[in-house]
Amino acid sequence: MSILSELKIRFRQTLIDLVEEPEELLEMIRRGQDPRFGDYQANFAMTLGKRLGRPPRELAADIIKHLDVAGFCDPPKVEGPGFINLRVRDDWLSRQLARAVADHRLGVPTLADPRTYIIDYSAPNVAKPMHVGHIRSTVIGDALARTLRFLGHDVITDNHLGDWGTQFGMIIYGYRHFVDKKAYKKTPVKELARLYRLVRQLMDYIEGKRQLVLGGLEKAIAEQETRLEAQREAAGATRGKKPNKKTAKVLGRLEGDLEQARAELEKLQNKLAAVESDPVLLKLAEKHSDIESAVPRETAKLHSGDRQNMKLWREFLPSCLKDIQRIYKRLDIEFDHTLGESFYNGRLAAIVQELRDKGIARQSDGAICIFAEGHDVPMLIRKRDGAFLYATTDLATIRYRMETWRPDAVLYVVDHRQSLHFDQLFAVARLMGYKDVEFEHVSFGTVLGADGRPFKTRSGDTVGLENLLNEAVLRAGATVCDNDDAKPTGPELSPKQRAQVAETVGIAALKYADLSQNRTSDYVFSYDKMLAMNGNTATYMQYAYARVRSIFARGNVDVDALRASATRILLDTPAERALAIELLRFSEALDLVVADYRPNQLTAYLFELANRYSAFFEQCPVLKAETDQLRQSRLLLCDLTARTIRKGLELLGINVVEKM
Ligand code: ARG
Repeated sequence: MSILSELKIRFRQTLIDLVEEPEELLEMIRRGQDPRFGDYQANFAMTLGKRLGRPPRELAADIIKHLDVAGFCDPPKVEGPGFINLRVRDDWLSRQLARAVADHRLGVPTLADPRTYIIDYSAPNVAKPMHVGHIRSTVIGDALARTLRFLGHDVITDNHLGDWGTQFGMIIYGYRHFVDKKAYKKTPVKELARLYRLVRQLMDYIEGKRQLVLGGLEKAIAEQETRLEAQREAAGATRGKKPNKKTAKVLGRLEGDLEQARAELEKLQNKLAAVESDPVLLKLAEKHSDIESAVPRETAKLHSGDRQNMKLWREFLPSCLKDIQRIYKRLDIEFDHTLGESFYNGRLAAIVQELRDKGIARQSDGAICIFAEGHDVPMLIRKRDGAFLYATTDLATIRYRMETWRPDAVLYVVDHRQSLHFDQLFAVARLMGYKDVEFEHVSFGTVLGADGRPFKTRSGDTVGLENLLNEAVLRAGATVCDNDDAKPTGPELSPKQRAQVAETVGIAALKYADLSQNRTSDYVFSYDKMLAMNGNTATYMQYAYARVRSIFARGNVDVDALRASATRILLDTPAERALAIELLRFSEALDLVVADYRPNQLTAYLFELANRYSAFFEQCPVLKAETDQLRQSRLLLCDLTARTIRKGLELLGINVVEKM
């Protein structure tokens, strides 16, 4: 039981006499900012006072008169305009800690009312190599799955692979026209990736050429220039007058837009130049000038079961999957199901028919569309030429999942650019009758490079995920070696151990750097930051863990005997007490993760815990504590901290190391 949920139970009993629905008020109980005033604070008296027409301080005083916290908190105090400050009793804390010590769940209760969750995450398009963008969906989805499962929910993970889309048309086309047979035989995935990139480049070239010919971009730039000039003129900026704040903002925005448009044009020109400066490429582009329509034709042929294209698809798929599987293995990611888009091919016609029969979808201009309420653009589910779309597959997927697993909630961990798609999809799901199911787009922002743009290598390719892992592990290796070499008693790790630790630390750094971000924001990718020994990083957390382990090793402590000793935990210093409160907040942090599907609530908690532990460790001798009981008590605090960090990291999909 967390302190917060215990407080909510107690306050609910009092508030229920004053209001019908106290939930919203109970949400206003928070952790106190300053330990001198108490551990938790209830801030609802001001809101409630307004509602009931009573002075908040008087109301707060009345509430605490009826509040039963005997044996749990010291008598509460009203402070300021009506804050109720609560200080938890030390003996209560000690008892809860003793329970956590004896509990393999570290005091986190299992739910009384578990739900069934489906989590749709990772889902890369397999015909092209995985890149940095995939790390987000993969690690966020995995962390949510682990956390929900730990809390007691039924979790079904399903990797909705993009194994059937246009990219296959691209590699089939590429294979037919450009394959290097020898290279394909030797390293099929590498050759397929090359083909994918080549076809992409040719398609982009043809499209870019057309764009330039149409002159749309240049026209837009010219228009923007005129508009900006006119605004500057109007604001007097051309005559050296300083524009006011509002005008300056407008000008700033116009300048930004113009800069962006110019950058886009330049990017396009560079892309074209890259092809034109290479005679071989240019020749290919000229020869395959109809590639833009030829590639979708290959895809359509595949979808309609063309024998030859099916044969190629069956041949390509295993190599593509093998590559991805290798990355999942390193990342320690497993799925319950991997039902890719291809699995639903046979169900697409039926779902379209069903939606038409029910009057949910209708014909428009030869295509089949769904007009959902609140959406201006219809959702297209069958094109005029008969082709089905991404949305059609997603609808068939919903139908299948509902019938097979009957979930209470379905989470889609997919980047924010697809939010319109999911808005529409969920609206249609409700039309299909799934009104009580929670559909959630757990969206996330972009990984940026140091320049603030989507993370790319110098050559302009997005960074392959595997290279990223290798680089992180390489750099982690350097840190691990430095750290080991600097140990006062000399290095303790063999070369093999060093390599293992580097792999764990490197992968952990990468995952944690991602998970510790507020998922909806973009973030800047930085190896240095993610591998820092200090700060909110996995390395810091793993180090804190290893430090506890080394204390136990140095003190020759028998952990099992210690845990079984039933030593009372003493909380006489502020640092010990602060650590105790934080340890008992673990389940509160997990509730926060689930409330909004945000793993960064857990990383923030772990960081706070590690900091409190550091402060405790600096101020309170452990092995050299004054009395034997104090030594035992402090060792128990160390042990519980290590276990909580380990469990917390495990729920994030991150492993610890015993020594580093
Ligand atoms: N393969 C898709 C992409 O890479 C993501 C799929 C997400 N899941 C879904 N059910 N639509 O964009």
